[in-house]
Amino acid sequence: MVKILINKTKKQFIEDLKREVTVRKGEMYVVKNTSEDFHTNHGIVKKADLKKSGIIQTSQKKEFSLFDADFIDLYKQIERSAQIPLLKDITAILAFTGVNKKSIVLDAGAGSGGISLFLANYVKEVITHDVDKEAVKLVKKNAKMLGLTNVKVKEKDIYKGFDEKNVDLVTIDLPSPWNAIGSANAALKVGGFLVSYSPQITQSLDFTNAINKHDNFIAFKSAEIIERTWDLDNRKCRPNSRVQHSGFLTFCRKIK
Ligand SMILES: C[S@@+](CC[C@H](N)C(=O)[O-])C[C@H]1O[C@@H](n2cnc3c(N)ncnc32)[C@H](O)[C@@H]1O
Repeated sequence: MVKILINKTKKQFIEDLKREVTVRKGEMYVVKNTSEDFHTNHGIVKKADLKKSGIIQTSQKKEFSLFDADFIDLYKQIERSAQIPLLKDITAILAFTGVNKKSIVLDAGAGSGGISLFLANYVKEVITHDVDKEAVKLVKKNAKMLGLTNVKVKEKDIYKGFDEKNVDLVTIDLPSPWNAIGSANAALKVGGFLVSYSPQITQSLDFTNAINKHDNFIAFKSAEIIERTWDLDNRKCRPNSRVQHSGFLTFCRKIK
């Protein structure tokens, strides 16, 4: 069992300074091995305490909250090779296709499993593909770590076609997504969705132009999903200054 150890940022009013200062920054640890003592920056948590849930104390008498890791905690630990889309992008795929526990999803390239493994937590089955042996190995390893049993990983060049038919959704994150349209067309059911994720707008443009020329698809949404987080603390209240670009999503539907 993987556990999460977490504590809150602690602030204290310092009389001499006449202001509140941060005396401890919030910290989070992922404890992958609960069969031995765990070392934090604030002392050791005894292995017997790692079996518990709730508030525990380290050897330095510092308090942490301890609980079982959830899917999302483990997902954040997946080993990465290529760049993976951010959760704001992957969750938009769920939102705009409405896939669910009855859905069959095909995905390529598998990469590290960023898209496929997240979707697998919500749908019936995901079959993900990559031409690269190392990517196939990595996604299998990540799927095992997440405890997912509804993921198949195939070593395959999907520009040449998928094996499956009548699926609900095809997700692609490929260097030349326009080369995958024929394969997606053959695999999707009528009414099924094709979603392409690309870091470059030129890739999205070429992909959408190719879709627009294809009789069987309509492209109904092209979007860069922008997330603006805010820093809120006492009277501090402003958008976070980090702007994070990830990529562009193009949503298509097979109409015949
Ligand atoms: C940017 S990565 C995908 C990242 C992945 N979406 C994730 O969330 O981890 C692109 C992957 O596409 C794979 N790829 C490239 N051409 C392919 C093809 N024709 N068929 C299958 N996979 C391909 C590459 O080997 C690479 O692993």
